[in-house]
Amino acid sequence: MTIASRLSVLLGLAAALVIPPPAAGQPMLSDVGATKAITCSACHGAGGNSRSDLMPILAGMDAAYFKKQINDYASGERPSPEMEPYAKQVQDLGVDALAAHFAGQKTQPTALRADAAAVERGRTAAAECVVCHGKDGKGEKAKLIPSLAGQPPGYLRTQMLLFKQDQRNPKDATLKAMKTLMKTIPDERLSDLAAYYSSLR
Ligand code: HEC
Ligand code: HEC
Repeated sequence: MTIASRLSVLLGLAAALVIPPPAAGQPMLSDVGATKAITCSACHGAGGNSRSDLMPILAGMDAAYFKKQINDYASGERPSPEMEPYAKQVQDLGVDALAAHFAGQKTQPTALRADAAAVERGRTAAAECVVCHGKDGKGEKAKLIPSLAGQPPGYLRTQMLLFKQDQRNPKDATLKAMKTLMKTIPDERLSDLAAYYSSLR
């Protein structure tokens, strides 16, 4: 048998094995969110595991916290010119499927290594955060307090500054305690806190 004819036999076998397409309206993948999440990977990385210092990791994010953020971006309560259009798109696509998709991904913590001295200073300063974000920095799902562990330091620092300047959810009275606390912390200490939380696993 020539290589070409062997190949055609193999291709014939492969064609016979092709699984018929799913009936119309039936999702091709059990994880419907995976297809919908493709646009997000451009900024948030493959499977939501951002490798960038400025983009948050979505992999393993609690679904209820994810939904709150999407709704807040879409309504403009959490102002972000970058996320607002995508948040509206997520609402159209179905926020539950995307929330479930990202919650089901395994978190790969940031590979960015913060300066060891900054991490130690941050560990001390974090005593004020433990009451809400927990000893391990993993937050508290029931209270919609997010995990900070392993998020990129640049993203964490930016968000702390936005809270401090009352630019993240400016009208949300429930975040008042956290914002008041942020206002008491000098900017360079915020960098230490970001270094510390990004180092947690
Ligand atoms: C053009 C880049 C870009 C794309 C594409 C993008 N995002 Fe974002 N996303 C960002 C940025 C930047 C932030 C942080 C914005 C801020 O400061 O609040 C963010 C923040 C988020 C957050 C908040 C995370 C947290 O820890 O609070 C969620 C949730 C999110 N994005 C979901 C999505 C989803 C789902 C998609 C795909 C439908 C998507 N994003 C597409 C840039 C992007
Ligand atoms: C009173 C409880 C409380 C305290 C104390 C607190 N936080 Fe938070 N933190 C929250 C809540 C709630 C959110 C989510 C806000 C939202 O829904 O937008 C949050 C969000 C954050 C975020 C954004 C995470 C993300 O994925 O976007 C960062 C960063 C953060 N906190 C850092 C800190 C640090 C550092 C401290 C200590 C200096 C601290 N927080 C103290 C309740 C608290």
